[in-house]
Amino acid sequence: MPSVCVFGAQWGDEGKGKIIDGMARDADVVVRYQGGANAGHTVVVQGKKYVLHLIPSGILHPGKVNVIGTGVAVDPLALWGEVEGLRAQGVAVDGSNLRLSAGAHVIFEHHKRIDAAAERWRGLGRIGTTGRGIGPSYADRAARTGLRVCDLLDTARLRERLQAALAEKNAALTAVHGEEPLDLDEQLARYAGLGETLRPFVGDTGREVRRAYADGKLVLFEGAQGAMLDIDAGTYPFVTSSHTGAAGVAAGAGFPPRDLERVIGIAKAYCTRVGEGPFPSEDHGPDGERIRVAGNEYGATTGRPRRCGWFDVLAVRYALELNGADGWIVTNLDVLSGFKEIRVCTAYDVGGERRTEWPADLPDVEHVKPIHETLPGWDEDITGVREFADLPQAARDYVAWLEQRVGTPIVMLSVGPDRDQVIPRTSAPLVGAAGGRR
Ligand code: GDP
Ligand code: IMO
Ligand code: MG
Repeated sequence: MPSVCVFGAQWGDEGKGKIIDGMARDADVVVRYQGGANAGHTVVVQGKKYVLHLIPSGILHPGKVNVIGTGVAVDPLALWGEVEGLRAQGVAVDGSNLRLSAGAHVIFEHHKRIDAAAERWRGLGRIGTTGRGIGPSYADRAARTGLRVCDLLDTARLRERLQAALAEKNAALTAVHGEEPLDLDEQLARYAGLGETLRPFVGDTGREVRRAYADGKLVLFEGAQGAMLDIDAGTYPFVTSSHTGAAGVAAGAGFPPRDLERVIGIAKAYCTRVGEGPFPSEDHGPDGERIRVAGNEYGATTGRPRRCGWFDVLAVRYALELNGADGWIVTNLDVLSGFKEIRVCTAYDVGGERRTEWPADLPDVEHVKPIHETLPGWDEDITGVREFADLPQAARDYVAWLEQRVGTPIVMLSVGPDRDQVIPRTSAPLVGAAGGRR
């Protein structure tokens, strides 16, 4: 009865959506356990592109149950827009294949306004958030002033709680941020309406997931963002506001930690980051630009150009170790085709001291200097390759070298955005019979 968590091992956009969609073929339930519509997970099926923000990446397979867990910050407006968008693309979405936790916190209009205003306030110290209200909503959850999905379903309760929330938020919006206040009746009408619309999807999803697992169903947990954006483990304060890795699963999905059997990290063959914050192996020159063009590295949520650079062994090794990854998947290997030389960051120079482990003890890794090693590249287009043995020798060597340096087995490679553009590296299935508690 395997349960598998798949998480991003860099700064997000590692290709989680594509990989989860592929793995979902063999799964029964796919669960998002944290984050919100800040995520943008791209799935390409026979050339047709779908971008998912809140809905798990199993939704394109009929008959799979997709769960938005308690730990997700849910913008009901974004969620409903996504449901309608998928339906317009011919994907069936209803209360049987999409489930929404009654306990998930709601992102309101005021959270998005405050997210944007707080960024303006921070000026040069801004985080570069996605503006989706994530931080302010999780802050209210921790302050115990947030509203949950279940609160949307009872208009009297919603009025009382939203009135209390808006009293405080409008004071902040007007007095601190110099914005217009939000109108209670207008907001109430909007969110009560959304609550009604979403009612058929709402339930005790934690119990639903635990029952499915107990019944022998295969459960996949889909991480959003990446380990280096984790609120505690990442490059704080340039992080998101949730636990992005395996540790987030238990609380965010309502799933006992001891029942999580397998953990798989995902990392690109190079590295990207969107938003502000430390990125030691960033390449500001023509190579970074070339990666951006070849990898089409523009944010799936905000359209911002992603910052591009080289694979950082220290960051990925740290992310995999921290999350207890059994294996990892390298995506976007095809993007490196045509580089004469490939650089990889294998150490940092910290004020003259050479560090070979992620420096989690430093308050700020902004100023470390990357130390790169150089490997030979390859010219061939590898997007059509499906067997490891058919890759050019230099590509095979690069993968073997990464595996050896990172120290965790690479279980699959991805060589293009489409569902089928993968190269397995182990004969054991990623999801299914080979599972079992470690
Ligand atoms: P996620 O947030 O981790 O799901 O990743 P995104 O969807 O934000 O970004 C990954 C981008 O790379 C998307 O445009 C994918 O379609 C694309 N992609 C995924 N895997 C591959 C791959 O192996 N090669 C190439 N060239 N593109 C890929
Ligand atoms: P997926 O799931 C990449 C980044 C933002 C910003 C920081 C905080 O597609 O990999 P937030 O809006 O969460 O408060 O922003 O985190 N960020 C992401 N970067 N991929 C994502 O999601 C991200 N979600 C948030 O750019 O730097
Ligand atoms: Mg993304």
